[in-house]
Amino acid sequence: MKGVILAGGTGSRLYPLTSITNKHLLPIYNKPMIYYPIFSLVEAGIKDVLLVTGGEMAGDFLRLLGNGRELGLSRLSYTYQRGSGGIAAALSLAEDFAEKEKIAVILGDNIIGGSIKKYVDSFQMQKDGARVLLREVEHPERFGVAEIGNEKIVSIEEKPKKPKSNYIVIGVYMYDSQVFDIIRGLKPSGRGELEITDVNNYYLKKGGLTYDILDGFWSDAGTFDSLLLANNLVAEKERKKSN
Ligand code: DAU
Repeated sequence: MKGVILAGGTGSRLYPLTSITNKHLLPIYNKPMIYYPIFSLVEAGIKDVLLVTGGEMAGDFLRLLGNGRELGLSRLSYTYQRGSGGIAAALSLAEDFAEKEKIAVILGDNIIGGSIKKYVDSFQMQKDGARVLLREVEHPERFGVAEIGNEKIVSIEEKPKKPKSNYIVIGVYMYDSQVFDIIRGLKPSGRGELEITDVNNYYLKKGGLTYDILDGFWSDAGTFDSLLLANNLVAEKERKKSN
């Protein structure tokens, strides 16, 4: 399976930290943020990866990551997203790279403590469709929230005012090759973006969406508080390792 890391967008919730650099180059404890999604994919056995980025500092990724070999990748490809039209818009740029294979997509600001290998392996066994990872959180309002009934996802709502559960869809998505046709059919949301939640709901309606509950720690790093949390979680893990 190939991997896609989405590291575009403006990082506006982190201004002024992101006014002269890309969010995904900010530090998470002792490494740049972008290392963590790369490590998650490599550990899951995905070593052929496309990085989608944008903005004025896009060239810095090449300087930092080069051909990706030092981080365990066999091939690192790059593409450029103009503007910030949403996660699904960024993903649409991966169509040629995917070459009709299944793909695992990870958001560049998602920091995952454990391994995603078993979920990726389950998706390899899944004939087609999509697979998402869920996580129980205290404040689900700023995420995609999954309503679950009879152990199935019933609906996913993006940033609902009144969440129907505490289970959120984290930024790891696995798709079959149909995903690019689905994105072509999307309309921008109220916030003017092509939403990944609309893609997932499309698969859900067709009966093709499965899920796992992620174990180990997880945080995004797109707000001041979540950036701090991600730093603290990684610091704790690293200190445990060195003791
Ligand atoms: O972290 C999980 C959450 O990520 C999900 O629960 C939500 O359903 C999903 O919409 C997303 O929500 P955010 O509001 O946190 O997304 P954000 O706009 O912060 O974008 C997350 C990453 O996606 C960002 O680090 C880079 C990438 N991205 C985003 C946009 C808007 C792009 O590559 N291009 C873009 O245009």
